[in-house]
Amino acid sequence: MDKYFVIGHPVKHSLSPEIHKMFAAQFDIEMSYETRDFEPGGFIEGMAVLRREDSPKGANVTHPFKMDAYQYCDEVTPRARKCEAANTLIFDGNRVLGDTTDGKGFVNDVTQRCGASLTGARVLILGAGGAGRGLAAALQEEGCARIYIANRTPERAHSAGAALGCASGSFVDLISEKFDIIVNATSAAFSGAAPAVPNCVFSECSLAVDLTYAALPTPFMQLAKESGAVRVEDGLGMLVAQAAESFALWTGRMPDTKPVYEKLRAAFDASVAL
Ligand code: ATR
Repeated sequence: MDKYFVIGHPVKHSLSPEIHKMFAAQFDIEMSYETRDFEPGGFIEGMAVLRREDSPKGANVTHPFKMDAYQYCDEVTPRARKCEAANTLIFDGNRVLGDTTDGKGFVNDVTQRCGASLTGARVLILGAGGAGRGLAAALQEEGCARIYIANRTPERAHSAGAALGCASGSFVDLISEKFDIIVNATSAAFSGAAPAVPNCVFSECSLAVDLTYAALPTPFMQLAKESGAVRVEDGLGMLVAQAAESFALWTGRMPDTKPVYEKLRAAFDASVAL
């Protein structure tokens, strides 16, 4: 049986094993998919043990190892190179190929499940870390009218903007800006907060998406809704959509994301109702 893994720290609560098992069931594919927690700073050692003991066919890589994974690969796709991050590894004999499916997952989720159009859209990305930069790189292929990267530390926004050819600024600079789609790619939610952006930035916003997800609306989703965003979403849809892209890279089959998303969402809703 082919073995697949998701590597991260912490990774115990990852939904990826459940998602990939549901995908595999759609095609009657037998595969195992397990979590592997590597010590921070221990990516290379962890990979050596994993490859020696388990001969994986593929792996997903999540926080905080996406850049380590990129550097570890023998070969990477152009889109992984653009973000300097890999979330999907393909083991081919002694070689490791790296790709990133996060950006494509986001685009698919927003256009297919949410029904939004990126063509001609004014898009604001909050956060200039790996997640924000990866998103900006993916959106550049989608014909957006404007992509703006804003960050708490403006210098980081400007260096990301210069590297990717996007507009950039601080949160305060957003006071005179309007956007159709606003994405929270910051890790502010870890401290229980929304990024401190002016409320008026949401006044023409048709879709606000938080890349983090939880059973209850995140602080960013609450801020967006209260400030006039028409529709607010968390990152569960993107999580399922990026997983589908990884699954297709490994197996050549593109799973149906809809029933998987709906099952996970229903489980979240049920956990809140308890
Ligand atoms: P990732 O690879 O997940 O993007 P990262 O590189 O550590 O992680 O980046 C985290 C992002 O969240 C950064 O844009 C960070 O802003 P700074 O560059 O100013 O640190 C942002 N961030 C973290 N906590 C935040 C908060 N409380 N408010 C706003 N932005 C925050």
